[in-house]
Order: sequence, then C-alpha cells, then structure tokens
Amino acid sequence: MSGAEPLRTLYWEQDSLFLLDQRLLPGKISYRRCRSAADVAAAIKNMVVRGAPAIGVSAAFAMVLAAREAAGDGSGAAAIERAAAALRSSRPTAVNLDWALRRMESLLERFGGDTGEELTAILLREARTILEEDLATNRRIGAHGASLIPDGASILTHCNAGALATAGYGTALGVIRAAAAAGKRLQVYVDETRPLLQGARLTALELLREKIPAVLVTDSCAGYLFSDDRITVVIVGADRIAANGDTANKIGTYPLAVLAKRHRVPFYVAAPCSTIDLSLESGREIAIEERDPEEITTLNGDRIAPAGIAAFNPAFDVTPAELISAIVTERGLLHRPCRAALENLLAKGEE
Ligand code: MRU
Repeated sequence: MSGAEPLRTLYWEQDSLFLLDQRLLPGKISYRRCRSAADVAAAIKNMVVRGAPAIGVSAAFAMVLAAREAAGDGSGAAAIERAAAALRSSRPTAVNLDWALRRMESLLERFGGDTGEELTAILLREARTILEEDLATNRRIGAHGASLIPDGASILTHCNAGALATAGYGTALGVIRAAAAAGKRLQVYVDETRPLLQGARLTALELLREKIPAVLVTDSCAGYLFSDDRITVVIVGADRIAANGDTANKIGTYPLAVLAKRHRVPFYVAAPCSTIDLSLESGREIAIEERDPEEITTLNGDRIAPAGIAAFNPAFDVTPAELISAIVTERGLLHRPCRAALENLLAKGEE
C-alpha cells in the first residue's frame, strides 16, 4: 500500500535546523535554514513549520542554537532563557512547544548557569532524542489506533496531523497509515481546512504519496457527508488536551464532533502524551491563538473580501470531552477521557 517516502519535516545539519517550508506545499519542496533561535521562532510564528509535535521538536533545536550563540558571544544563560521566552510565545495553543522547552530548560538548570560547548552538545543530544522519541511515539499511536478503524472504513479527518505535523509518520494520519498497512481498505475524506488549507495542501499530499484513497472536500461539506451516511469514523489530532479531556485542535474540529454525535459516528483524537496538560482543569482555560484576519480576507496574497470588512480568525476550537469517543496515545486508548484516566495514563509506562 505504501508509496513514496514521507517528506522530512525537519532535520539538523551543518549546525543549523532545516525546516521544510510548509507554506509552499504542495507546489514546491524547499527547506529553510535556521541559524538562530530567532529564525526558528519566526518560522513557527509564520507557519513555515506547524503541527503541535513538529513545533515542539523545532523549539528543542532552537534551544541548541540559542546555547551556541550564548557560548559564542558570552551572553550567558539569561540570553538562552530570553530565547526560550520568545519561542514559547511564538504560538500559544500547542502545549508541545512548552513541553519541549521545559525539557531543554531542565538541562540548562542542571548546568547551573554555565554556558559553553559542553552545554550545547548536551542540548543537541536531547533535541535529537526528542525527535527520535516523537517518531517512535507516532508509530505506537498508529499501532494502538489501527484497532479502532474497521476494514472498509470511510474516515473524515481535519487539518494535517500527519508526518508533516510531527517528526514523521503523524498522529491521526499515523493511525490511518497503520490501518492501511494492516491491509484494511479505507477511504479518507480530507477537509480542506480554511483558511490556510492544511488539509488540501498537506494531508492530501501525504495521502496521495502513500497511495491511500482520499477525497478532498470543503469544510462546509461535512454535514452533507454525515447525513448521506458516508462517514464511519472521524479522527483528528490535538494541540492541547486539558485535564478533563477537553481538546483543542484546528478551528472546525468541534463542529465535526457535534455532527459525529448527532449521527452516532465515533470521534477519535490521536495525540502523544506530551499534548496532555494537567495544569488546566478544562478546555475553557486553553489559550486560543488568534491569527491575522488577512488569512481570511486574502487567498495566496489576493484580496477575496472587500477592503474594510472585519474578520475574526481563531486558529483553534475546543471539543468537549463528552463528544470524544476515545483518545489514542502512545500508551494506549482512553475511552472516557477525564482527569483520573489522564492522570493514570501519564503515571503508567508505555504499553
Ligand atoms: O495551525 P496548525 O497547522 O499548526 O494546526 C495543526 C493542528 O491543528 C493539528 O491537528 C495538531 O497540531 C496536531 S498535529 C499532529
């Protein structure tokens, strides 16, 4: 079933982080070289790289770049902390960013303010570990989630939670990949995902390359698909999962969960444990990023709405836990997401 090799989202070479410029896909495969932590923060903000796990991995490598700069100009640990703060604020909703930064900062703390080549080398080793772990995690998510996908399933997915949103393989798309690899016959409906078209540009590309049967639809087609009994499973990724299981994901996810409930179709979320944020009681506390209204009023730089119209552009919405049939993680499935279940999951090891 498998087709072309998945595109590499990012890699480390020549003391730099190379990011696949996802804004140019599917038309052009071009890698942007980031030589500083500020380059990476800008790339995250401008969505050269996007997707919660990919943002986290990128931020980890950005910390290596910050440490190297600090070692070079003697600006010290405070400069690395400033870089971390800039990275942290580059996109507020995906908690994987904060998770990866904390992991890097804990090494920084262990060094007690010393900056130098040794610290840079240790941070680089940790960033590489985070990248490798993400790949392995996604494969485990795929293995756990594939059991939820019946042979002959007609799957609806939103945005891009694929290899391009991670270090590779993907979360929601990883589940689809694993089900396809197990020989299940699948049909995937891909929401185009306004306004930045991650579904039309990225998910469609990944599924085509994998030779998994896929059909592109407008976001507003979802109601029709459900009412025409064309969807048997919904699976999406996540940017942050609060302690009660409420889940933030790309704007337009919540209405799919409502539709799925109405039509008695299972609605699954696939995400690594690093997306779970027990510090927030419920989804109401999740910071929702608001992006430039121009993303709505223009298309490829051309104005499509009249000049002067106001536009509101939240990048994410929150799906209440009660609408989620199960969360698929690398540690197994969580059928009724709630604080106790999520705490147990984080406390136990991998299955
Ligand atoms: O704005 P984006 O493209 O970063 O949004 C991405 C999503 O909403 C994904 O579904 C989520 O980050 C999970 S990626 C495995």
